[in-house]
Amino acid sequence: MSWNQDLFKRTLDFAAKVHGAQQVPGSGAPYVVHLVKVATEVLRAADGSFDVDFAMQCALLHDCVEDAGVKVETLHLEFGSRVANGVHALTKDDAVSKPERMADSLRRIRAQPREVWLVKLADRITNLEPAPAHWAAEKRAAYRAEAQVIADALGEAHAGLAARIREKIAAYA
Ligand code: NI
Repeated sequence: MSWNQDLFKRTLDFAAKVHGAQQVPGSGAPYVVHLVKVATEVLRAADGSFDVDFAMQCALLHDCVEDAGVKVETLHLEFGSRVANGVHALTKDDAVSKPERMADSLRRIRAQPREVWLVKLADRITNLEPAPAHWAAEKRAAYRAEAQVIADALGEAHAGLAARIREKIAAYA
C-alpha cells in the first residue's frame, strides 16, 4: 500500500502546531499521540478501496476545529475543500442540543465520502482504550452504548474497521 508520506508529515506538523500543549484527557500524553493513533487505524485498514491519504489527513485534523479552535476556512486554504468539509463534518455542532448532537453528527458524516466515516470509526476505536479511572460505571456504559450507535451507523463503510470496533466494544468494561 503506497501513501504520500510528505503530505502526511505536512498535515502532522500542522496538527501538532495547532494542538500545541493540549493533552489527551486522562493520559497526559501530548494530543498528537491521539491523532497519530487514529491515523494508524486508518492506515492499517488501507486495502485500496479508499483514498488513504485523504483519510489520514482527516484523521490528523479531525479534532482541530472542535478542540484547537482552527477555522474551517483555514483548512480550506491549507488543505483544500475535501479535507475541510470532512473535518467540518467530524466537528460536533454546539448549536445542536446535547441529546441530538450525536445523531446530527452521524448524519453529517454520512453525507461525506466514505473516508470520513472511516475516521469516525477509527477515532472511537482509539478512544475505547480502558476508560479513565475516575469515570463512573454509568458514564462508561453510556460511552459504550454510544460506540455501538457509531458502529451501527458507519460500520458498512469498512468491514475490517467494523470488526475492530465490535471487538473493542466487547472488551470495554
Ligand atoms: Ni478524536
